This record gives sequence, structure tokens and C-alpha cells, in this order.
Amino acid sequence: MSEELKGQVAVVTGAARGIGEAISKQLASMGATIILVARDKAQLDKVRQQIEAAGGTAHTFSLDLLEEPDIAQLGKTIQSQHGRCDILVNNAGIGLIGKPLVEMTPSDWDTLMGTNLRGPYLMIRALAPLMIAAKSGHIINISSLAGKNPLPNGAAYSASKWGLNGLTYSVAEELRPHNIRVSVIAPGSVNTSFGSSKQDNPRKIQPDDVARVVAMLVTQAPQSFVSEVLLRPTQKP
Ligand SMILES: NC(=O)c1ccc[n+]([C@@H]2O[C@H](COP(=O)([O-])OP(=O)(O)OC[C@H]3O[C@@H](n4cnc5c(N)ncnc54)[C@H](OP(=O)(O)O)[C@@H]3O)[C@@H](O)[C@H]2O)c1
Repeated sequence: MSEELKGQVAVVTGAARGIGEAISKQLASMGATIILVARDKAQLDKVRQQIEAAGGTAHTFSLDLLEEPDIAQLGKTIQSQHGRCDILVNNAGIGLIGKPLVEMTPSDWDTLMGTNLRGPYLMIRALAPLMIAAKSGHIINISSLAGKNPLPNGAAYSASKWGLNGLTYSVAEELRPHNIRVSVIAPGSVNTSFGSSKQDNPRKIQPDDVARVVAMLVTQAPQSFVSEVLLRPTQKP
């Protein structure tokens, strides 16, 4: 445990497993209080218990990013219980990869965009006001190299991440005058159970690698910031 982020509150979406779990544990080990967000309450509780067993502090908030009123309630709860939000990591996302776009149903399209793009918008809408009031904060959006490149049979996923990049660059400019730094991390394939991926390839980027980048982003010198990180495996998996 270090104390670099002592007194700070960090909200991490998709904290129940994979990259979000690793980011939450990393930020907790640096002394931040973590608000763990995802749908699966039991899995969130497991992560919370592991953070607490390691000497950290975490709370769970189970919600579906498709439900705007629940996100608004999260913002109110954080305001009343903690009075601050120093770090927001918009990490939750789904893939629905594996079919040509013409075979995708409009309902799957809406679910994907609702989770990957509208979700981060709603989280920023709920929490950025606390950062604006404090005149400081970090927002980190987890995109993908699929938001930089074409992804056949993953067109909607790719579009959601291209969209998330555009949202990041634009809202970064809106929030800069408030001393809030908005960054995006775009990893290649990460060793998690995302979609139907198998967690079997040691050459893949590991969740902790992404967490280390988040740690770097939230501990930068105050006068500058890295706005975008493209994270690649050293050797192609
Ligand atoms: N794995 C990769 O290869 C890779 C590569 C580049 C970028 N990324 C991006 O990294 C992020 C995390 O991926 P991952 O690999 O860690 O995926 P993962 O293991 O499938 O975890 C996704 C997390 O998002 C949560 N989530 C999904 N839908 C949600 C919803 N509607 N409301 C609230 N929470 C929701 C899930 O929890 P619940 O199911 O409990 O809600 C889970 O905690 C995603 O944005 C993904 O696009 C992943």
C-alpha cells in the first residue's frame, strides 16, 4: 500500500472483473477509496473484500449503465457520502463481436452503444460537476485499438470505440479550463474473458498492464498530461 492517492475517491465502471478489477485494485493500493461499479453485486463484493483484505478501502454500487436514473443516483450518493470524485475510469464495455454488421439486430446495436458510449457520457454527466466544483479531476476512458483501426465483424464495437475517442478528445477540451484532465487508453487484445475470449495467452496484454497506465495517468505532474495511450503487446499474440 502506498499513500499517493490518500483521501481521493475513484469510481471505476466494469470493476467486477477483468481490466476494471485490476484498475480498482491498483488505485486502492495507492490509497484511493474505490467505488466499484458493475451489475453483478456478488462479484463486486468479492473484489471489495479482496481490496479490503489487502488493506484498501472500497464500496460497491451495483447498476446497469443502460439505466440513466441509476447513474444519476450514483452521482448523488457519491456527493452525499464522499463529497468528491477525483478519478473516474469509464472502463465497462461489451463487444458483441463475431457477426457482419448486416446481421446485427438494432436491439444489440442499442445495447452496445448504450453501454460503450452513452454509459461514459452519463457517468461524466453525473460526476464531472463534482470535479468542476473542486477544480480538479481525472477522467480516463478505456477504448481499444479497434477505435483506431477497422474491425470486420465488429463494426458496431469499433464504431463505439471510435466514438469514445471523439467524445474523449472533445470533452477534454471542455474540461481543461476546469483543471480536469481527460485521457483515453486504447489497448490491443487484453487477457480477460471479454466476449468469448479465452484467458490463455501469456503474450497478450495483461489487465495489470492497463492498470499501470492508469496509475501513471493519475500521478502526473500538475502542469501537463498524457491525453492518449495506445497499448500494444511487445510480441504479437
Ligand atoms: N479484453 C480485451 O481484449 C480488450 C481490448 C481493448 C479494450 N478493451 C476494453 O476494456 C474494457 C474492459 O474489458 P474487459 O476485457 O475487462 O471485459 P470484461 O472482463 O468482460 O469486463 C467487463 C466489465 O464491464 C461490466 N459491464 C458490462 N456491461 C455493463 C453494464 N450494462 N452496466 C454496468 N457494467 C457493465 C461487467 O460487469 P457486469 O457484467 O457485472 O455488469 C464487467 O465488470 C471494455 O471497455 C473493453 O471494450 C478490452
